[in-house]
Amino acid sequence: MIKRILTGDRPTGPLHLGHYVGSLQNRVRLQEEYDTYLLIADVQALTDNFEHPEKLEANIFEVALDYLAVGLDPDKVKIVVQSMVPELTELTIYFMNLVTTATLERNPTLKDEIKQRNFTKGLPVGFYTYPISQASDITIFKAHLVPVGEDQLPMIEQAREIVRRFNRMYDKVLIEPKALVGQVARLPGTDGGAKMSKSLGNCIYLGDSPEVVRKRVMSMYTDPTRLHPTDPGHVEGNPVFTYHDVFNPDKAEVEDLKERYRKGTVGDVEVKEKLFKALNVFLEPIRERRAHFASKPGHVREIIVEGTRMGRAVAQATMAEVRTAMKISYKLQG
Ligand code: TRP
Repeated sequence: MIKRILTGDRPTGPLHLGHYVGSLQNRVRLQEEYDTYLLIADVQALTDNFEHPEKLEANIFEVALDYLAVGLDPDKVKIVVQSMVPELTELTIYFMNLVTTATLERNPTLKDEIKQRNFTKGLPVGFYTYPISQASDITIFKAHLVPVGEDQLPMIEQAREIVRRFNRMYDKVLIEPKALVGQVARLPGTDGGAKMSKSLGNCIYLGDSPEVVRKRVMSMYTDPTRLHPTDPGHVEGNPVFTYHDVFNPDKAEVEDLKERYRKGTVGDVEVKEKLFKALNVFLEPIRERRAHFASKPGHVREIIVEGTRMGRAVAQATMAEVRTAMKISYKLQG
């Protein structure tokens, strides 16, 4: 049996370099080998954007464009809109019986996100329970592999726990998924912060123009201890060099820059100019594919509709098995 991938993104904005190295790169690499479903998680996005649902529709389109732009092939992968698969909601409700509040309370990613969001009117139940809904996303597609950024590992662990309980208690119908983290687990932000994240405003987006990328790179955080280009600088933990390591294929150039930076014989400007050039070479084909698909919105809509149709068929088949396993497949009709 050909194995499946399920992963996804919240449609709250376009995707950035952190998404690329954390997950998109693996999806592109594995799309030939795995039956791949990419979930645009609008229901999950609502859990902390319920006051602004109008943001979702345009962003569903943006995320789909980013998928196509990085080289995910619409003849191979299925792009699925979460709210258009109502079976996910049903499975989430059943899964809620298999998870304790104590388990949710311990989820480190959820804890961080709750702190970050600073919900002033109290913690919404929808947000608190989104790890359960994410477990449904993964398991309804019977995914074997979930390519994600490092911060999502507790979510996959939660899904695995639910699967083990479900299969033990009812019947063995669900598959215990494995996470796959990207080559760079966590890309720092342009501000030197631990993580590139939209809410922190420290991103370079896959669709950014060369002018914007240049501005972002030239204002990047470097080594705060280095005041003059003749001061010896630190390469480790310096995001400009982290990006060079990831995106500059000219390893000799990177080594030369590092050596001169350590000795204090190269200025930040040269290091950044070279990074900008490398990033631009990387982003140019992505921009071109993005523009190509953006000029055919009808075609993109068809890709999404067809992907969702195929995804929903898988979800319906799994739910039939789930209901049978749970002995709630009542014979009350006809
Ligand atoms: N929580 C993920 C994020 O914020 C998005 C997501 C929703 C997801 N459902 C998923 C990721 C299922 C992997 C699998 O990026």
